[in-house]
Amino acid sequence: MLALEGLEVRYATRQGEARAVDRVSLALAEGECLGLVGESGCGKSTIARAVMGILPPNGRIAAGRIRFRGQDLATLDPERSRELRGRRMALVPQSAMNAFDPVYTVRAQLDEAILAHGAMAAPARAERIAALFARVGLEIARLDDYPHQFSGGMRQRAMIAMAMALDPDLIVADEPTTGLDVVVQDQILQHIRSLHREQRKTMLLITHDMAVVAENCDRIAVMYGGRAVETGDRAVFERPLHPYTLGLCNAFPDLDDGGRALISIPGAPPDLVTPPAGCRFAPRCPFAENHCSEAEPALLEVEPGRHAACHRLDRIEEFRRRARDPDTWQTERKS
Ligand SMILES: Nc1ncnc2c1ncn2[C@@H]1O[C@H](COP(=O)(O)OP(=O)(O)OP(=O)(O)O)[C@@H](O)[C@H]1O
Ligand code: SF4
Ligand SMILES: [Mg+2]
Repeated sequence: MLALEGLEVRYATRQGEARAVDRVSLALAEGECLGLVGESGCGKSTIARAVMGILPPNGRIAAGRIRFRGQDLATLDPERSRELRGRRMALVPQSAMNAFDPVYTVRAQLDEAILAHGAMAAPARAERIAALFARVGLEIARLDDYPHQFSGGMRQRAMIAMAMALDPDLIVADEPTTGLDVVVQDQILQHIRSLHREQRKTMLLITHDMAVVAENCDRIAVMYGGRAVETGDRAVFERPLHPYTLGLCNAFPDLDDGGRALISIPGAPPDLVTPPAGCRFAPRCPFAENHCSEAEPALLEVEPGRHAACHRLDRIEEFRRRARDPDTWQTERKS
């Protein structure tokens, strides 16, 4: 349904052009849920914005394609592409406050979304809106409130109701639960899950929470410094192929092994204006060798359906063992 092919997105900054997304290729099949993970600033939201066609004025698609059902959104006539996105895609953003118009009631905005989707008489629309609200666990009495009268969790639910009202084929959820308390997070995730599982919506789910990805996604893409470094099914977290994924897994509480100490990855992500040559993870990778900083590793199929970009895939068993030792990540790289 959706395919990113060598997608490059750049932002103009005072320091120069930042390559926020650099030659990323990902595919999402009908009905699938793809989870996008990686540290802050690795380009996740930029992918979401490029797909939705809402890059800020200083952002541009420098190369590549965004194919949606075969049509390239990056080069399609802007009006046609807007229409296609409006009818077929919906975004559940991190902060629903910015997504709602503050001067209209939530009911008015849901009504407009339904109307934009096709002719429907007023009583039928009212019934639909009430059903959508009930579906996401919101009181019908609150429909005539303005967005600012809702709590963060309520706005997020209303946003999901909006996504359902639009009846899109593709839902892009960018950190849909960040900033909410864990109980509300869980409820919101249940709604997101039901969109995917019961309504068979195709979904691009962006989150920092690896447990959420492991639980909800059919496929996973791990990003680092604007590049996709590992892709595959849930085995990505169970048996990582890339040292960065090993580091991410160490830094996140393991549901099956609550007693394990968390180990963070020292250092910071690369500068995207002048990214390091070779493997972008090399300055932080405990397994880096001289060659790693000279040549960029390609994202290769390592096993059926699993890709990774690392020069030393042959040593992955050893890396997995060593990654469990906190000292491994403390040692400064010698080369
Ligand atoms: N409007 C902008 N102008 C300039 N640079 C930007 C802009 N938006 C994002 N960037 C830069 O692009 C890179 C990718 O940002 P993006 O928001 O896609 O990251 P992210 O993976 O979604 O991070 P987070 O997990 O913090 O949401 C970052 O280095 C960021 O500083
Ligand atoms: S290519 Fe080298 S530096 Fe990059 S992840 Fe693999 S071992 Fe580490
Ligand atoms: Mg983001």
